[in-house]
Amino acid sequence: MPSSGLSSSSYSASPQQRLTAVVSHLRRERKLKVVVTRDLGPDVMPILKQWGDIELVTWPEDRACERQWLLDNIPGASGIIVMLTDKVDDELLEKAGRQLRIVSTMSVGYEHVDLRAISRAGVRLGFTPDVLTDAVADLSVMLALMASRNAGQTASIVQAGNWPNSPWAPFKFCGPQLSTSQFSPTRTVGFLGFGRIARATLARLIPFGITHCIYTTRSSSSSETDEDPTLKPYLSATNPLSSLKSITRVPLPTLAVESDVLFVLAPGGPETHHIVGEEFLKGMKKSAVLVNTARGTLVDSEALARALREEWIWGAGLDVVEGEPKIGVDHVLLKEPRCVILPHIASATFETRRGMATLAAKNLLAALDGGDMPSELDLKGRA
Ligand code: DGY
Repeated sequence: MPSSGLSSSSYSASPQQRLTAVVSHLRRERKLKVVVTRDLGPDVMPILKQWGDIELVTWPEDRACERQWLLDNIPGASGIIVMLTDKVDDELLEKAGRQLRIVSTMSVGYEHVDLRAISRAGVRLGFTPDVLTDAVADLSVMLALMASRNAGQTASIVQAGNWPNSPWAPFKFCGPQLSTSQFSPTRTVGFLGFGRIARATLARLIPFGITHCIYTTRSSSSSETDEDPTLKPYLSATNPLSSLKSITRVPLPTLAVESDVLFVLAPGGPETHHIVGEEFLKGMKKSAVLVNTARGTLVDSEALARALREEWIWGAGLDVVEGEPKIGVDHVLLKEPRCVILPHIASATFETRRGMATLAAKNLLAALDGGDMPSELDLKGRA
């Protein structure tokens, strides 16, 4: 019998150990091909290059990877690192071939990945939660402040050299205050989605004197109630530095009606498509501010533009817009002065992006080795 290169002890090992042995053997026998759709920078590319004898194929340009390049280069790949701009679907998986083991996305969101398709193909999915929580929470608060205090509109006045025509005036450019005041002693923040980033955003808002937090979540888990012990540290009853009196899960219409500032922080996808639409926006306070740092598809842009134009709400701060990045000057939301729009930069700090790229690389290598990934999406029940 020809030598397989596997030691006899492999046959008495656990399935996981055997898989690892087989993968190591294959790695020795032939190079594994890995495709990366964006250069991950001088700190992270060496992790891939030094890992072993892999054939590394990297999209060479500093812009989103072209689909055709990806389709041309994916055949024979065992692993692929993608960005949220790369669609992972049946077409790509079929082109890749049956040896593909891992799709590692450098993002916490995975709407660009067809979960059913990768699950059917027996491919594992790595993603990058946690490492971006703080950066996204920081920017969510920043957008809440920018939108309520007219920062987008007023900064462009200065940029355009028009400050001389807009001198200080008692009530010019005023907006609703995020923190509590003698005129607004209570403040309610709402969260559509109440995961890690929402909670980190809430923690940042407590020093503003926020008094109530309400949220909706897809989960019907009974642990996510006021009794949830993980929520206690936020509350004034247990934390003398906190002004927060309550954290309450509410139905969606109540979230619209009661929020002074509403943060959209739920995953995208068909279940949440346009969840913030005309009906929801009409229910909101006239003084309310909407912040979306999740996915553009959750908010109906036409309805939001109308809400701003007709003053159903005060303002909006968006890091994501449906159809991005194709948001030109004619986009309906760009006509609204009280809508601040940033080009999907919530996680864009040096530290966070390096963390995300590192985690994406580690997920990929762990899966190629047949081991546990630091952050693998459990596909059970999702595909
Ligand atoms: C993600 O990782 O999904 C974020 O949107 C990136 O900023």
